[in-house]
Formats: sequence, C-alpha cells, structure tokens
Amino acid sequence: MKILVIGSGGREHALVWKILQSERVREVYCAPGNAGIGELAECVNIKADDIAGLLHFAKKEKIDLTVVGPEVPLVLGIVNEFEKENLMIFGPSKEAARLEGSKVFSKEFMKRHNIPTADFKVFDDVKAAEAYVSDSRFPLVIKADGLASGKGVVIAKNFAEAKTALDEIMRQKIFGDAGRRVIIEECLIGEEASILAVGDGSNFALLDSAQDHKRIFDGDLGPNTGGMGAYSPAPGGLRELLRMIAFNIIMPVIQGMRKEECSFRGVLYAGIMITEDGPKVLEFNVRFGDPETQAILPRLKNDLVEVMLASCEGKMHQVRLDWDKRACVCVVLSSRGYPGNYEKGKEITGLKEASSVSSAVVFHAGTEKKDGKVLTSGGRVLGVMSLGDGIEQAIDTAYQAVEKIKFDGCFFRRDIGAKAMGRVET
Ligand code: AMP
Ligand code: GLY
Repeated sequence: MKILVIGSGGREHALVWKILQSERVREVYCAPGNAGIGELAECVNIKADDIAGLLHFAKKEKIDLTVVGPEVPLVLGIVNEFEKENLMIFGPSKEAARLEGSKVFSKEFMKRHNIPTADFKVFDDVKAAEAYVSDSRFPLVIKADGLASGKGVVIAKNFAEAKTALDEIMRQKIFGDAGRRVIIEECLIGEEASILAVGDGSNFALLDSAQDHKRIFDGDLGPNTGGMGAYSPAPGGLRELLRMIAFNIIMPVIQGMRKEECSFRGVLYAGIMITEDGPKVLEFNVRFGDPETQAILPRLKNDLVEVMLASCEGKMHQVRLDWDKRACVCVVLSSRGYPGNYEKGKEITGLKEASSVSSAVVFHAGTEKKDGKVLTSGGRVLGVMSLGDGIEQAIDTAYQAVEKIKFDGCFFRRDIGAKAMGRVET
C-alpha cells in the first residue's frame, strides 16, 4: 500500500514510524513532514491545510490510505473531499469534527446525550458574558468556541482575569472568528487523563491510557503548552476508571453522533478530569493527541494500518488491540521561550547518540534539514521516547537519551512520568 500522512509534528513522526512496521506498506509520504520524518518517508511540500493540493497529490500518486494528523484539515472537511473522490482516508467528516472544531457544539452535544462534563453557559454577547462573570464565583473557565491551537482556554481566578479574557477573545478577537462565541464553565478539580478510542461510526476500540503534561514547568506550573511530555499507561487508579469512561463517555458519543447523522470515524480523544463525582469531559479532540501518541503507539502490538482500515471500512468490531506490557515515556524538548515567542534555526547535535540508547527513539516535532544540518524550526522540537520494564526504567532511559541532545535554548521538563512512579502496574 501507498500511505500519505498529513502533518509535521512529533505525532506524525510516530505515526510514520509505526505505519512503516506494517507488512502491507510499500511506500509512505508525509505532507509536509520534518527532518526526522524525512529519514523514513518521502516528504512532500504541501501544507496540512491545503486540501486541494493534498487531494491532487493523493489522486496523482494513487495513495491507498491517507492518515490525517492535525485537527485543522479535519475541521475544514478534508475527509468529505477525499471521500467524494473515492479515496480512503482515516479520520472524521467535517460534521463529526465539530466535536473539536466547536466547543459550543461539543458541550451542547454532551448535554443532549447526558455525557458528564462541567456545567456551562454559552455567550455571543460580550456585555452579557461580563454581567454573568461579575455575578459568579471563581475560579471559572472561559473558552473560545473555535480552534485556537490549544490556547483558547483561560482559567480565571478572579473577575479581573475573567474580564481581560473576555475582552481579548470577544472584543480584540485574538483568536479571530473562533472567539465569536465563548463557553463559560465550572472549574473542575482532579487528575487529568487522555483516553483515546478508534471508532468506525458504530463501534470502537479503546487505546491504552496516557497522561500528558500540559504545563511548561516542573510540578505542573506555568502556562499551558501543547504538551511537554507523556507516559503510558496512566496510573493504576485511573486505569480502573477506563470501563466507566468507555460506557459513560465514549459509547454515548459514538451512539449519539450516529443518531445525529454525523457518525464518528477515526480517533476520538477525550480529555478527562477525574473529579470526586467521577470522570468528566474537559474537551474532545478528533485526532491522535500530541505527545500522547508518541507514548501510546510504541506499546501497540497490532498493525496500525489494519486498525485504520477497520475504522474506514466499519469493521472495528473485529479488532482486538494488544498492548506491550512495558511502560513508555516521551519527553518533549522545546525551544526557550515556548509557549511564547521563541527563536528558530538552532543547530541540533547528539541525535545519533540519543537514538543509540537502547529502547529510545527520537521523534522530531519542529525540525528542518539545511545544508546537511538539523535545525530547530518550532516551539516543540523533539520528543524523546523510551520503553522500559516499569515506569522508572522508561524514565531513566528516556532522560539518558535526552542528555545526549544539545541545541541553544533547549528546554525540557525533568519530571515527566514522575507522578506515576510507584503507581503504574504494567
Ligand atoms: P481544553 O483545550 O478544553 O483541553 O483545555 C485545556 C486545559 O485547560 C485542560 O487540559 C485542562 O487542564 C484545563 N481545563 C479545561 N477546562 C477545564 C475545566 N472546566 N476545569 C478545569 N480545568 C480545565
Ligand atoms: N496533548 C494534547 C493534544 O493533543 O491536544
């Protein structure tokens, strides 16, 4: 088979790496890819949101299966466009991608189907929103309706912070049209977990659990990022809740979307807060998580291409996922300044040495190749993954590999996976 992977981050590097382990695969292309992906697959210079360009390429190259990494093309309707041309593509339709593309759609859908989530109100008028927060108890959470690269969520500790957030989102429109409407919701307290499932419209299979580290600094301090590291599986207590999450959250989503005639195919990612009242949904994403994917896929024993084909063909009931018992940790190396402004173009050294640490793999996120050198080109630069017999060993080897890599302004958390120590049975 010829496969096209869309995207350019660590998630896509992990997808390409795993797809290449399939015996059915002859060639893999990635658009646009990065320096690390370029070592494994043929990178094609087409942006992830250039749907016409991607469609033209897939037709010309007779691609058998297209795999979409990021949310933007999904929300724009890439799956609908490919299917019109009878091209096989893994992911949800434009209508189903609203679960991520519109937080208002997603919250109202959850309400219609009794899926546990934070209480909320929707506002399209900034004055009404301000009046509401002036009368509320804090903290509360303000979210722009549309896509905002993971930055559209503010946890306001007091009225002044809430007012600033509303002003930025609704008046100054820092996220553009994504901020035309906002959700104001109750702040949930507890431990977060990412639960991913692969659906085919009617059935689904849960992937094993993972935990992301969203804040920039050790101890979960500082601003939110796209994710500074992840480990899988999540700690014991969280794993026991998996059944409950499957029955009370994932299944009603798959059934509810089907009833509403926007059947969900592809990866459903539920960001969950384990509260005192049980698991509640923070958000849905309609694609693999980044960096969760880099910690989950190395533990998947199945042929990922078979799983994706089953999703496209409505055969998920035939799929049984098998997991490596080892633990997996992925540490993200970022550019100094991320998630704010950061510099690019710094030379990266030590990549070969890091990859030679046994059980470690370096996934590239924001890198490019110039004159034979690998340079930084993004906020999240690399994800260093390692498997281990137990979380402690996975952490040890991942950090051994991290220590070999150098670039100016390299920043990473030193506590990835630490909160799981002693709590994970593999
Ligand atoms: P989201 O983009 O909705 O996942 O939000 C990003 C992050 O904001 C989540 O991973 C949580 O850490 C936090 N968050 C979102 N909604 C809530 C909430 N209702 N209560 C507490 N934290 C939240
Ligand atoms: N790791 C969070 C996300 O993929 O959205």
